[in-house]
Amino acid sequence: MQTEIIRITDVASSRAEIKQAAAVLRAGGLVVFPTETVYGLGGNGLSATSSKKIYAAKGRPSNNPLIIHVDTPHEAEKYAFAGDLYRRLAAAFMPGPLTVVLPKRDCIPYATTGGLDTVAVRCPDHPVAHALLSECDFPVAAPSANLSGKPSPTTARHVITDLSGRVDVIIDGGESDIGLESTIIKIDRDEAGEYLTLLRPGAITVDALTCVCERVIIAPAVLEQLGEGERPLSPGMMYRHYAPTTPLVLLDGDPAHVLAYLQKEQEARSCAILCYLEEIPHLKDVHLFPVGGREDLSTQAHSLFSLLREADKAGADVMYAHLPDTNGLGLALYNRMIRAAAHTILKV
Ligand code: TXA
Ligand code: MG
Repeated sequence: MQTEIIRITDVASSRAEIKQAAAVLRAGGLVVFPTETVYGLGGNGLSATSSKKIYAAKGRPSNNPLIIHVDTPHEAEKYAFAGDLYRRLAAAFMPGPLTVVLPKRDCIPYATTGGLDTVAVRCPDHPVAHALLSECDFPVAAPSANLSGKPSPTTARHVITDLSGRVDVIIDGGESDIGLESTIIKIDRDEAGEYLTLLRPGAITVDALTCVCERVIIAPAVLEQLGEGERPLSPGMMYRHYAPTTPLVLLDGDPAHVLAYLQKEQEARSCAILCYLEEIPHLKDVHLFPVGGREDLSTQAHSLFSLLREADKAGADVMYAHLPDTNGLGLALYNRMIRAAAHTILKV
């Protein structure tokens, strides 16, 4: 398949290209588009055939459900059953990096939801995504636009590396602003009333969610490795994600101890290090990949996936990174990093 790459810097002057991409989706084709979190690999969410094509292009197991993307939060109600809590979440966080799992309506095929009776809906906050979705009279099903097992793409370059020849169109809209995938929540209910289950942490933090719904429960798979035979609430949490070829070890400990450990390791073997800016003067300038300042979680989120790809190319014996704290946006960083490291944490 020939992949067409379209660069869009200004939506107003690219109406024709946007219409062309929407026409490709309508005809059952695949279009990669930028969002504020990561790039998405889009197809028509109402078409089982399109969803099957998405799984094939990504090399992803077809029991791992897709998120449907809509232009406005209200439009989601055509495809899912939503109540008052959904509307309050939408008013607070949409468009934006929040995905809500709701009971699906019949029009959404099981091929899109991986056989589940629920569907995940998201309304992205990106001018190109918005323009594309507003041209589509159907929801756009889109997983992250990486090959299964690779870090999610935050630039068109990453997408081209992974998916050239596997999709019809790639829209290059520059770097993704946030750099980590959306927060995913499910609305649940028990005797005490409605509550939220956090399935995947992202830029909409637990604290922010708590402002809209008092009870937020963190699903076990967010923080820990599930035991043999345990099933996660979100099927995607089952797979080892973002796995670099170079083994990744997360260092946990007092900053001075971690730095001393890294200095010693640099003498002993070839290391790729995802370090903080503050550490650069104290380390040898070999295979250093600065993720941002120690306290600058937004920059760390923005650069993480890109640097995991870069650091892996260094061909070092081992890759080191810091184990993040789990406060605020740190929870999303922690969740992605423990998975990239296959839960390898070294206390120093
Ligand atoms: O930021 C994002 O969410 C990006 C952009 C493109 O929107 N998309 C994304 O999609 O990260 P994906 O497919 O790579 O991750 C979606 C996750 C998977 O782990 C999947 O298992 C979970 O959402 N998911 C989807 N539908 C679900 C459902 N009905 N119930 C529980 N989990 C669901
Ligand atoms: Mg993904």
